[in-house]
Amino acid sequence: MSPPWNVNIHYDGTLDRLVPATAVSVLDVGCGDGFLGARLSRRVPHVVALDSDQPVLRRAQARFPDALASWQHGDVLTGVVTPGSFDAVVSNATLHHLPDTRAGLRRLGSLVRPGGTVAIVTFARTEWRDIPWALSALIARGVANRVRGKWEHSAPTSWPPARTFRQLRQHAETELPGARVSRLLLGRVLIRWQGPAAPATDIGA
Ligand SMILES: C[S@@+](CC[C@H](N)C(=O)[O-])C[C@H]1O[C@@H](n2cnc3c(N)ncnc32)[C@H](O)[C@@H]1O
Repeated sequence: MSPPWNVNIHYDGTLDRLVPATAVSVLDVGCGDGFLGARLSRRVPHVVALDSDQPVLRRAQARFPDALASWQHGDVLTGVVTPGSFDAVVSNATLHHLPDTRAGLRRLGSLVRPGGTVAIVTFARTEWRDIPWALSALIARGVANRVRGKWEHSAPTSWPPARTFRQLRQHAETELPGARVSRLLLGRVLIRWQGPAAPATDIGA
């Protein structure tokens, strides 16, 4: 039997590829059923898979009992994770759950160490300028779901997304300066950011 597939799981691969090979610690924000956290834990020594919904977190743990991830219950916006403590922060289909997108981006950016990576796949609200993209994505998703067979995830959902593609780009530029924001074929938005490196310490006399 083929492994479960859906658009979220498809883009787990994109997020995985954006986590540097040297990463030792990664946080998956809004891990849901646990596919990304389990996938990353095969190569990253310390993976924290965080979700604010206890039942879905239990299902994730039950689905991946051998994954060397730390399954953690909590709200990413509160003090449950320590700022500046991860080499990378990834998040799939969760940013639109956060009540304030700008504050959410700022928070995710604050969780990586200097020079760390943030990689987010999220949804955008469709505005008229995005109709061609939305329509082609609808067709591409329909074909992909048909060909691959769509697995229904069991995580809490939030709909519709509050922010358009352009708003996401503006917010990312403000909160994560230098972030790259791009449209994805299956109708999602990818936000990539590498934080500024720590200032060099002057050890000269
Ligand atoms: C649509 S699901 C996506 C789950 C998974 N990442 C995926 O790709 O299928 C969004 C998840 O984010 C979680 N979530 C929402 N707000 C959160 C918060 N403030 N902190 C942590 N997790 C949160 C929800 O409980 C839910 O499991």
